[in-house]
Amino acid sequence: MQMLVYFLFITVAWASPRLDPLVDSKRGLIRGLQATDGDYAMFLGIPYAMVNYTNPFGPALPYPYFEEPFEAYDDNAICLQTAQITNEITGSLDCLHLNIYVPNSASKNNKLPVLLWIYGGSFQYGNAGRYQYGPKFLVEKDVIFITANYRVGLYGFMCLNTPEVQGNQGLKDQVKALQWIRENIEDFGGDASKVTLFGSSAGAVSVDYHILSKDKLFDKAILQSGTTLRTAAIMEPDNSVPILIAAKLGFATNDVNKAVEFLIKNEPKLVIAAAFELSIICKPCVEKDFEGNTFIADYPINTPIPKDKDIPILIGHNSQEQLSTYGKLSPSEYDEGIFEKLVSQAFNIDKDLVRIVKQFYIGDEAVSIDVKSALTDFDSDFALNHPIRRSMSKFLDNNSNVYFYVFSYSGGRNYGKWRHNVTGEGAAHSDEKGYLFDMSMMTDIPTPEDQLVIDRMTTMWTNFVKYGDPTPDLTELLPVKWTPLTEDIQHYLDINSDITMKRSPFNKRMAFWDLFYKMNEKFLIGFSGRE
Ligand SMILES: *[C@@H]1O[C@H](CO)[C@@H](O)[C@H](O)[C@H]1NC(C)=O
Ligand SMILES: *[C@@H]1O[C@H](CO)[C@@H](O)[C@H](O)[C@H]1NC(C)=O
Ligand SMILES: *[C@@H]1O[C@H](CO)[C@@H](O)[C@H](O)[C@H]1NC(C)=O
Repeated sequence: MQMLVYFLFITVAWASPRLDPLVDSKRGLIRGLQATDGDYAMFLGIPYAMVNYTNPFGPALPYPYFEEPFEAYDDNAICLQTAQITNEITGSLDCLHLNIYVPNSASKNNKLPVLLWIYGGSFQYGNAGRYQYGPKFLVEKDVIFITANYRVGLYGFMCLNTPEVQGNQGLKDQVKALQWIRENIEDFGGDASKVTLFGSSAGAVSVDYHILSKDKLFDKAILQSGTTLRTAAIMEPDNSVPILIAAKLGFATNDVNKAVEFLIKNEPKLVIAAAFELSIICKPCVEKDFEGNTFIADYPINTPIPKDKDIPILIGHNSQEQLSTYGKLSPSEYDEGIFEKLVSQAFNIDKDLVRIVKQFYIGDEAVSIDVKSALTDFDSDFALNHPIRRSMSKFLDNNSNVYFYVFSYSGGRNYGKWRHNVTGEGAAHSDEKGYLFDMSMMTDIPTPEDQLVIDRMTTMWTNFVKYGDPTPDLTELLPVKWTPLTEDIQHYLDINSDITMKRSPFNKRMAFWDLFYKMNEKFLIGFSGRE
């Protein structure tokens, strides 16, 4: 590492010397910590940008140069949010930090490739801390692993028809993190020309937005269970949002700018508490264009991959994506309107077409717990599996290699099922994360079966980061060659207790949706008729 390496002897008599890594970055000196659970250094909570307190709903500003060495010891910062499940208001605006984990083998002469994780959480919550995204499994494979916070919810995605609050601030924060990494990672022993972006759920949707953008700040991408074509990934600017929240907090106005000014003067925690009570959800939006500061200019269905991107992509989903959603419902919570509700998120169509979808999945049965498994299939297909297929064919148009997987393993570390306390065959949304990250909440030592899945996943993922190919050589651990997609054959790797190459997962269900989309493309919300 291009580190001025200092040795700091802890005064416990026989303790081994602790390496105290100090990096001379373009932004000033940054002091990290030597990890105690492996051969790597940790640089925690480095501010890569700062919220503009005069306009916390707008673009972030550069963080000032560190005049004093920055002590990168703390990864507790969380961007302001209403926590999932507990609904507790937590975090602050001082949150645009990243965490860098550097294997001790990295140096100026041995620059390691870089893997940046974008967390999910529906663009409403999430954070980059080690508690959930522990680095150990990945840094063991000789890559630099980075996690970055970005603004979520109201402060990350309020989207107005005004130049001050143009929208997509959270995604623009991610761009700033990528720029910071490009500028500084060589000083940590990283290779700035080898940066892979990866994410799950809304994190994967984010990765796809970066693929669609003109910026070229990374060279490979991994999308786990999410793309911009999923129905919930986009909205229109909505000027009523600040007006409604201001009213809730006691300030009545119809003037969007006055409402925003009022919110800026208010305590941010009160502001997001009011937004939560009003059930206001902010997420990526089609921005009105002001002075070239636009990140999303059109609906993803109308946006091709820029011609010069040509980046290898690893993409997939889990075998029972929406298992946790239906696994938790009590019999009375089954909603007869579920088909119409979901289909109308993507299409402007009439009830006859919705009836066909319902026929396909449950025939003449009523929506109830008796058809739980068919409803799980429907929701998984419509929300994720088929959008991912459609994104893959977009990627195939101009890309070297697209590697497709389905994660179907059910073991002791399936994170989504664990968190929602549901059981069932296969793998639910977010389940794969338990096999990529050393999660603090999973206190049991992995079983040998789980450890094998961890070893395989982290080796394939980091092979992809290094070589653009998850299985460059056949080994005892990875005895199967993972073939990329072709125009004609949808090869995929089934990741279960074994890994197996297969073709065309859920082909009948997917063929139904292929036809449905072909017939009804012009009814897609936002569809402009362009390529
Ligand atoms: C911060 O936001 C205010 C209000 O939009 C703007 O006038 C100001 O220029 C911004 N600060 C910087 C340093 O850009
Ligand atoms: C993608 O497009 C670029 C520019 O048009 C071209 O140079 C490149 O070879 C294409 N890649 C593939 C895999 O088609
Ligand atoms: C998890 O679910 C089981 C039944 O499926 C229940 O007995 C148990 O109390 C639940 N645990 C938690 C923490 O909710």
